[in-house]
Order: sequence, then structure tokens, then C-alpha cells
Amino acid sequence: MNVKSVLLLISLLWLTTASTATPSMAKQNCQERCGDVTIPYPFGIGKDCYLNEWFAVNCNDSFNPPTPYLSHPELNLKLTFVSLAYQLVTVISPMAVYCQDHDRNRSTWKGIDLSKTPFFYSEGNALRVVGCANSVLITRQGTILAGCSSICDNSSSVLSNGCYGINCCKTTVPSNLDFYILNTTWSTNMGTELNCTYAAFGRNFILRGKSSGSGMEYEASSEGEMIWMIKESVEGSDCHKNTVPDGALGNHSYYSCSCPAYQEGNPYLPNGCQVVEVCANCKGRCLTRIDGRFFCDERSLASKFWILGISLGGGLLFLLLGGFWLYKVLRRRRKIKLREQFFQQQLLQHQMSSNEISIENTKIFTFNELKKASDNFNENRILGRGGQGTVYKVPHLDQPNRRQMMAASMNKLDLPMV
Ligand SMILES: *[C@@H]1O[C@H](CO)[C@@H](O)[C@H](O)[C@H]1NC(C)=O
Ligand SMILES: *[C@@H]1O[C@H](CO)[C@@H](O)[C@H](O)[C@H]1NC(C)=O
Ligand SMILES: *[C@@H]1O[C@H](CO)[C@@H](O)[C@H](O)[C@H]1NC(C)=O
Ligand SMILES: *[C@@H]1O[C@H](CO)[C@@H](O)[C@H](O)[C@H]1NC(C)=O
Ligand SMILES: *[C@@H]1O[C@H](CO)[C@@H](O)[C@H](O)[C@H]1NC(C)=O
Ligand SMILES: *[C@@H]1O[C@H](CO)[C@@H](O)[C@H](O)[C@H]1NC(C)=O
Repeated sequence: MNVKSVLLLISLLWLTTASTATPSMAKQNCQERCGDVTIPYPFGIGKDCYLNEWFAVNCNDSFNPPTPYLSHPELNLKLTFVSLAYQLVTVISPMAVYCQDHDRNRSTWKGIDLSKTPFFYSEGNALRVVGCANSVLITRQGTILAGCSSICDNSSSVLSNGCYGINCCKTTVPSNLDFYILNTTWSTNMGTELNCTYAAFGRNFILRGKSSGSGMEYEASSEGEMIWMIKESVEGSDCHKNTVPDGALGNHSYYSCSCPAYQEGNPYLPNGCQVVEVCANCKGRCLTRIDGRFFCDERSLASKFWILGISLGGGLLFLLLGGFWLYKVLRRRRKIKLREQFFQQQLLQHQMSSNEISIENTKIFTFNELKKASDNFNENRILGRGGQGTVYKVPHLDQPNRRQMMAASMNKLDLPMV
């Protein structure tokens, strides 16, 4: 089982569990499903619903559930799954079946020739031979590509043991193929519970046994995986050109398309991609889940908003508080300065208007000196209030020891602010 098969399995599982509310994969006014199978464009059921005759699907309603077929006469294959993402289909492979008879020496069996079709067998297929005493080669145009042989051991069951060369063998084929032939060589009698030997080139092998009157009856089937190709790029989609890096196929090149980011729909329909609804209405982050579906991560938005809000709010608060503090400090400084200037002017005026103190003796004190001397304009030191201001009793500032009284005048307006 390779990675592609695992991915295919995952997408199969996903398809069966959650395929609601997606835009239609079929062309407008065309049937999208047949039984359990979704039929996306370029495949289509009915005229004008497919890209060309190779992609025409016939939904046979006489089965329950209805069963889709690739209806082109050169194919006529039962369709089990269509993947747009991996650009492949799985079909029920025809297989070489050799039952007990008397004519078993060599035989050749031809697979369906896909060389003229837009399909080729993917590397996800393997050759499996179920039964014993066979040697099977897979060849193309006379070239042996791979081969395996199985030995007989009738003490172990085909059904319970894996495919490791006893009653069953398996080999991978190292290239994509458009055509193959199985060359089988018989040697001894079949010694298993199976009546027949099966040789299939596919991605799996299913053997169903049911008991009937005479014993067990077995039914074998295998799903083959085919890549499908389109020749032209599609409008409104991201398409890129692939070239099959394989000599066996010649220079096949084809386009693979996908929807642009955050769009969904069918990239093989012209303008078939639409912005994902959950993303269009998403206020958080639109993310992709492992299965390729989108979801809106509101949680990240909420936490982002919280973080943004808290940091913005915190920053703003800090700025506001800082600004207010700065404003207060500046205002206080300015006020003190103004008051100081005013006070000095007043003092000077006062001293000059009264003849008591000669101009020579006039000493101008700074506001801080006076503030200190008046014990921060202590109420207890007020001698009196006059038209010019309040008079405080202070020690002589030049000779603090002498406690010489000195009058200091202050304007009422300039009471110290705390
Ligand atoms: C559906 O399948 C049945 C049985 O194989 C066949 O007889 C019939 O023609 C098919 N119908 C269509 C429409 O192909
Ligand atoms: C096929 O096998 C039978 C008996 O097993 C033998 O007689 C016959 O010659 C073989 N034919 C070929 C073409 O090998
Ligand atoms: C297995 O095969 C041998 C001969 O090939 C036969 O004698 C034996 O009975 C077989 N055993 C079973 C369980 O079929
Ligand atoms: C396989 O069978 C084809 C068709 O019968 C034949 O042309 C080719 O030579 C065979 N290849 C081998 C390796 O036996
Ligand atoms: C094997 O196949 C033959 C013919 O197809 C049949 O008659 C026989 O019953 C089968 N045997 C078993 C055990 O299925
Ligand atoms: C593939 O392309 C190359 C260059 O375009 C050319 O030389 C070569 O013959 C081509 N091969 C085939 C099988 O078309």
C-alpha cells in the first residue's frame, strides 16, 4: 500500500462521513451522484454533462444501489470512486481467471489498452496472483516489466495468510502503464481450497467466500486505479502542466487543477471555484483541516482580541497615567516658578514703596528660602494679613542664630499648594 492509496482511503472515509453542504461537483443541472459514488465533472451522467465521451458515465438503475459505469465502449468499467484531488478513478478491474481444466500450460491475458484514452494505470496498482503453482509475468510490447510466482501449500489457507509467495504472490510494477499483458505459466495441480487461480493488476484484491451445497464458492474482484488526464487548463483555477516521466507512456502531458487559496468547488469546471463560505464570513483565521476542508478559527480571533485589547488598554492606561502625572508635575513646577517670580516682584515693590529699608539693604530671597524660613508658611507664624499679602515671622535668613525677625510678604493668591 503506498501513500497515495492511504490518502485515497482517507478521502474515501471522509467522503462517506462528511460530504454535506459542499457546492455541487457536477456540471449545472446534472446528476451528481449514482448510488454511493459522487460523479464530479469532467465525468458526468448524461449528454452535455461530461467533458468528452471518455468521461461519460452510465448510471445503471437496475442494480441496487444504482451502479455507475464508464460507458465508453472501449472501457465499459464499473466505477467505484472518482477523486479530483488525486486526479484518479478506481474501477473494478477485469482479471485473468484460470479454473481447473485440462488445458493449462501457458496462457496470455490482455488488460484494457488505455493508450488511446485519457487514462493510464497508476503506480498504485500491483500484480497479484491468488492460487498456486503459477508464474505470471506482466509485459508490455514484449518487454517484461515485473513477475512473480507462487508455490503450493495446501496446509495453509489462501484467505488467512498474506500474499508472500505461498498460494499467492504480489509484485509492484515500476512505472505507469497504458497497456499490459499477463503471461502465465502453469506447472502442477492447484493444491488450495480455491478452484481457480486469479491474476489481477490493481490496487487491492478482494476474495469473498460463501458456502454453497457442494462446498465453498469464491468470488474475486480487484479495484484498479487509473489517472485521468485533461488536455487543457481551466479558467478560474490554478492549473499546472504535468508530463508523465515515463518512456512507456511516451510524452503524455496533462493539466492538474486546484482551487485558489480559500476557495472550494470543482476546479475542473470553468469558474467552478468559490470562496469558501466559512472563510468569507470568518472574522478569525480561516484554516485548512487535514482532510482539506476549511474551518474558521474564532478562538484565535478571541485570544488575539484579548491580547490586543489588554495590551492596547494597558498601553493607553499607562500613557494616560503617565501623561497626567507629567502634566501635574509640569503644572506644579510652572506654578511654583510663576509664584516665585511674582513673589519676588511683590517683595521688591513692597520694600521699595516703604521707606523703611534702604535699597542697598534690600535682599531678595527666593521662594524656597522663604518657604523654609516660614516653616512652609506655617499658620502659627502669621503676624498679620494685609492688602499686599500675609506677613510671616521668620528667623533672619542670613543669621539664623539671632532669630531676628523679618517680615515676609506673600500674596494671598500664592498660598503654597501641597
Ligand atoms: C443495466 O444492467 C443490466 C444488467 O447488466 C443490463 O441488462 C442493462 O442493459 C443495463 N442498463 C443500462 C441502462 O445500461
Ligand atoms: C499442455 O499440457 C499437456 C499435459 O499437461 C501436454 O500434453 C501438452 O503438450 C502441453 N501443451 C503445450 C503447448 O505445452
Ligand atoms: C495436500 O496435497 C497433497 C498432495 O499434493 C495431498 O496428499 C494432501 O491430502 C493435501 N492436503 C489437503 C489438506 O488438502
Ligand atoms: C507474453 O505473451 C504475449 C502474447 O501472447 C507474447 O507476445 C509475449 O512474447 C509473451 N512474453 C513472454 C515474456 O512470454
Ligand atoms: C470447481 O469448479 C468446477 C467447475 O467450475 C465445479 O464443478 C466444482 O464444483 C468446483 N469445485 C469447488 C470445490 O468449488
Ligand atoms: C518526447 O519529446 C521529446 C522532445 O520534445 C522528443 O524528442 C521525443 O521524441 C518525444 N518522445 C515521444 C515518445 O514522443
